[in-house]
Amino acid sequence: MSDMLNVVVDGLWRQGNKSLAVRLVAEGGETLPDWLPGAHIDVHLPCGLIRQYSLTGPRTGESYLICVGRETASRGGSRYIHETLRPGQRLLVSVPRNLFALQQAERVLLMAAGIGITPLYAMALELEAAGTPFTLHYSVKSHESAAFRRELSQFTQGECVIHAASPRAGLAEHIPEPEAGLHLYVCGPAGFMEKVREVATAKRWMEGNIHAEAFQPVALAAGSNAADVFTIAVASTGERWPVPADKTIAQVLQENGVAVPLSCEMGICGACLTPVIDGVVDHRDTVQSEAEKCGVNQQVALCCSRSHSRELVIGL
Ligand code: FES
Repeated sequence: MSDMLNVVVDGLWRQGNKSLAVRLVAEGGETLPDWLPGAHIDVHLPCGLIRQYSLTGPRTGESYLICVGRETASRGGSRYIHETLRPGQRLLVSVPRNLFALQQAERVLLMAAGIGITPLYAMALELEAAGTPFTLHYSVKSHESAAFRRELSQFTQGECVIHAASPRAGLAEHIPEPEAGLHLYVCGPAGFMEKVREVATAKRWMEGNIHAEAFQPVALAAGSNAADVFTIAVASTGERWPVPADKTIAQVLQENGVAVPLSCEMGICGACLTPVIDGVVDHRDTVQSEAEKCGVNQQVALCCSRSHSRELVIGL
């Protein structure tokens, strides 16, 4: 598998009181493939889980650095890394992929909440090196929980402001009026990112100047109930099954013996995108652009999206 890398855990250390930094080096000591800020790797954990983590810190070629928050509602990946992973352990990771790359800009606004700091810290380092002015707003529950606190205080081209308050507090103040050369990057919990987008849109920011990456699985809509049931139909066989509110389309297909290519199961990697033949998709992924979600030849992310129509026919 040429797109996979054998790595070894070279170091683990605390970042704030809630996160763990993990340094990975190539098992054979060779140079690792280069990456740009915003890139992530799939980490194949020995417990059978595959999780996506943003690369962070300086780009050295000798190692990859990820940082993993301690999640109370962990789906298993965070718990395994915090409780079981040890230095010297071998892991399989993908080569870096970037769905959240920095665009050419005169000035940059970075907005992070919680562990969403990881790609934005890498972006801040890149902007610092390029001499591009930036402001990083980093919202945390408490100053003690902030990751990379010392590193974030040493910028000269930009500044980092840590807010130990509700991530949504002060957004209207932190997001300025739009400018053509000003780009905004946001990363954190889905609710925080939605709020940032809402505030920026209300201030008439252009869609193309707002860049977002999700770290949490896309949640079912608040108030999901039995009325949210719809039917998924497979075009090639005509088979149809109900998708209840507490299951994803992918789960229903798998339960009925249909193979679904899955990776992140969070709507961020694109592995499960499948053509839509008929029906109106309720897009919940963050891997497709708004234009793609409204286009003629639409695709549905089977791991997280749902349906506005009573039936969704997919091209499988
Ligand atoms: S599995 Fe990654 S977007 Fe669905």
